[in-house]
Amino acid sequence: MNKVKVGILGATGLVGQAFLWMLSKNKLFIPSFLVASEKRAGRSFKEEVRWLMPYSMPSDLAELEINKMDFNALEKEGCKIIFSALPKNIATEIEPELRKRGFLVFSNAGAMRREENVPILIPEVNPEAIELIYKQGYPENGFIITNANCSTTGLALALAPLVKYGIDEIYVTTYQSLSGAGYPGISSMDILGNLIPYIDGEEEKMIFETRKILKISSSIFPTCIRVPVMFGHLESVWIKFKERVKPKDIIEAWTQFEVGKNQTESQPSKSIVYCPEQDRPHPGMSFHGSPPGMTVYTGRARKYEDKIGFVLLVNNIIRGAAGGSIQNAELFYKKHGNQI
Ligand SMILES: NC(=O)c1ccc[n+]([C@@H]2O[C@H](COP(=O)([O-])OP(=O)(O)OC[C@H]3O[C@@H](n4cnc5c(N)ncnc54)[C@H](OP(=O)(O)O)[C@@H]3O)[C@@H](O)[C@H]2O)c1
Repeated sequence: MNKVKVGILGATGLVGQAFLWMLSKNKLFIPSFLVASEKRAGRSFKEEVRWLMPYSMPSDLAELEINKMDFNALEKEGCKIIFSALPKNIATEIEPELRKRGFLVFSNAGAMRREENVPILIPEVNPEAIELIYKQGYPENGFIITNANCSTTGLALALAPLVKYGIDEIYVTTYQSLSGAGYPGISSMDILGNLIPYIDGEEEKMIFETRKILKISSSIFPTCIRVPVMFGHLESVWIKFKERVKPKDIIEAWTQFEVGKNQTESQPSKSIVYCPEQDRPHPGMSFHGSPPGMTVYTGRARKYEDKIGFVLLVNNIIRGAAGGSIQNAELFYKKHGNQI
């Protein structure tokens, strides 16, 4: 089968390089047009990227040329599917224009997530949200499908099998890695041997996006902290359920969480894996699982008074960004690919 050509916007960033790494092995999509800021145009990916993935750069994609943003060139190259890893302010301008011009945009940026007709899609959790593309005017227009903010992705996935118990209150503290701030990100002098107890806009995103994805109205109390770790966001969660719930009930709900019907190439056979060891999960496990980085790990299920606590780990640049987008595009292709 001929692979489907795709464009990657923000290809030299942390999420962009995660896209290239994952897509170099993907059976359906092949990166064919890379975009970064204008100063890099005309040079090769390998010359311009500061490669930070803990794997080798895919040699077949290293020579691809970097382009400046050019709608006509993307069209000429035959890239109808676009993966966007642009900063929010740039995405705000470019993504709606791409949609207007008929492109199918799978975005990591927070720019469009608050639009009512733009889905925040996690295939295992709310696959039905994909149908919102028709409310955006597809197929006459293109569409934008977003994935959630990286911390929200881990939280929403871990909570999805627990919604049946009724969730009253969610208290979540995140320990977010440096790669979550992009490259070059935070100054080494601010973070070396230190933690920063504030991440701009992150707590508001966790509240809004968790409610939108899970269709719940629970009270959510997030605290987001930047930590000097390279990859992976750890989250400490406490839940007040409406029903009487024991730790063994939530472990069982995760174990039995079946997601087979929307399974695609990038979706692990088990999307949530509970670690029984007291000292797991931890960010050192960020690239565990198959495909690496796509599994959300939970652990330390316990009960104090009326609340159930647990810890979760999500790989922010894979499951929380590039891998999530690829999975969304695969789901779209599986359901509606014959219309492209
Ligand atoms: N990092 C994460 O864990 C994570 C997780 C979820 C979502 N996100 C979201 O994903 C997006 C990308 O994040 P990131 O961490 O990859 O950021 P990043 O490392 O700062 O990369 C940004 C990319 O955008 C490109 N870019 C900047 N201005 C541009 C312009 N005017 N035209 C074309 N390209 C331009 C940059 O190119 P140059 O290299 O040429 O500057 C670079 O390739 C952001 O919206 C972020 O909020 C990130």
